[in-house]
Amino acid sequence: MSATPLTLQSRPATDPSVDHAIQAIVSGASTDSTCSTDLAVGPWDFDTRPGYGPGSSMGDVIPTGAPRQGELPAAYREASDEELDARIRAAKATLGDRVVVLGHFYQREEVVRHADYVGDSFQLAGAATSRPEAEAIVFCGVHFMAETADLLSRPEQAVILPNLAAGCSMADMADIDQVEECWEQLADVLGDLETPDAAGLLPVIPVTYMNSSAAIKGFVGRHGGIVCTSSNARTVLEWAFERGRRVLFFPDQHLGRNTAKAMGVPLDRMPMWNPRKPLGGSSPEAIDDSRVILWHGFCSVHRRFTVDQIDKARAEHPGVRVIVHPECPMEVVDAADEAGSTDVIRKAIGAATEPTTFAVGTEINLVQRLAAQYPQHEIFCLDPVVCPCSTMYRIHPGYLAWVLESLVAGEVVNRITVPSSVAGPATVALERMLAAQPHGAVK
Ligand code: 13P
Ligand code: SF4
Repeated sequence: MSATPLTLQSRPATDPSVDHAIQAIVSGASTDSTCSTDLAVGPWDFDTRPGYGPGSSMGDVIPTGAPRQGELPAAYREASDEELDARIRAAKATLGDRVVVLGHFYQREEVVRHADYVGDSFQLAGAATSRPEAEAIVFCGVHFMAETADLLSRPEQAVILPNLAAGCSMADMADIDQVEECWEQLADVLGDLETPDAAGLLPVIPVTYMNSSAAIKGFVGRHGGIVCTSSNARTVLEWAFERGRRVLFFPDQHLGRNTAKAMGVPLDRMPMWNPRKPLGGSSPEAIDDSRVILWHGFCSVHRRFTVDQIDKARAEHPGVRVIVHPECPMEVVDAADEAGSTDVIRKAIGAATEPTTFAVGTEINLVQRLAAQYPQHEIFCLDPVVCPCSTMYRIHPGYLAWVLESLVAGEVVNRITVPSSVAGPATVALERMLAAQPHGAVK
């Protein structure tokens, strides 16, 4: 009898490590597939080269001047997994309350296990303020998250990103010059953007997803706008519609479209803004009639999910519950049973009392961790190809060990500091988000 190939959907759900899955694929021990066998090597093999590196964003265009990581000392590149694990634990124990380690849900298991706080981008923004006595906040996530932590933490606290090449291809799809240019073109069509009409409403309120640079958050803060995350996008859009005729939403078209559609905004009142085209590729009439102008950005992890994958999951697993992240395309969100932020996905699975099959449309590290955490359920990623977020995956335990041991030695490496010219307005935009309450909420 021939052995049944071990596919991702049938792999025993006991090992949360995506790295182990990738190593098994590359060594031939697993018949699963990965989008890049380069994922099996340490990120230092490609850190000094331009590009997002292997993984879901590898086909995206990296901006000129994107931060690169210098060479990691050989001691960390050559250490075994066990040695790195022990060194991280020892450094953390030595540092004690002097350091707090934050980890996004999409971080690899070998990193997440060392985090003092694990969460989605909204929760981690809060966690950045939770230990004001810590000298350093080590942010195991991506660049915009570390910038946000720097904005919200005390000025004396050093925010450290273990690998400077851990950016976000979606955040890079809106740069500040393009956004300034868009604003000028909107003013040509809509008139003075800073003066409210007779009803007290501004022509347009800029709303930026948390996944954007501090410079863009600063732009939003200067123009009466606000930041949102995937867990509060609806609340934030309600806030914006109370203050403006329309919203300019960037950089993620999908989160903007999915949220506004669920609020009843018709699709024909959501024109797309392509920054490479005059007037974003729209007509003055479409801009004038719009309710939400959607920036042409997307997440390359969530763009991998398709309606066909959902149809296949339903055909092969009758009764499956399909939950996807709102960064997925609208057709995928519409075909799913539920959509929500990483924390919503996690809580929905945690709340299921009966053994259930879940097909999840979000980053593989979170999905595989949930599968290991809840063995009573069958949990699999909708995308059968193992393809983590390229930039989240750049945070390898080698870098975490390096930044922590540097702190032990009295050296702060890889500090992320938001320039003072944008820090003030960017913080205003973030504070508006933190203060925004859902309709009907009791404070
Ligand atoms: P949340 O953590 O807000 O769910 O966002 C997911 C994401 O893409 C982070 O990069
Ligand atoms: Fe950016 Fe998508 Fe990766 Fe999040 S998952 S960091 S949005 S590329």
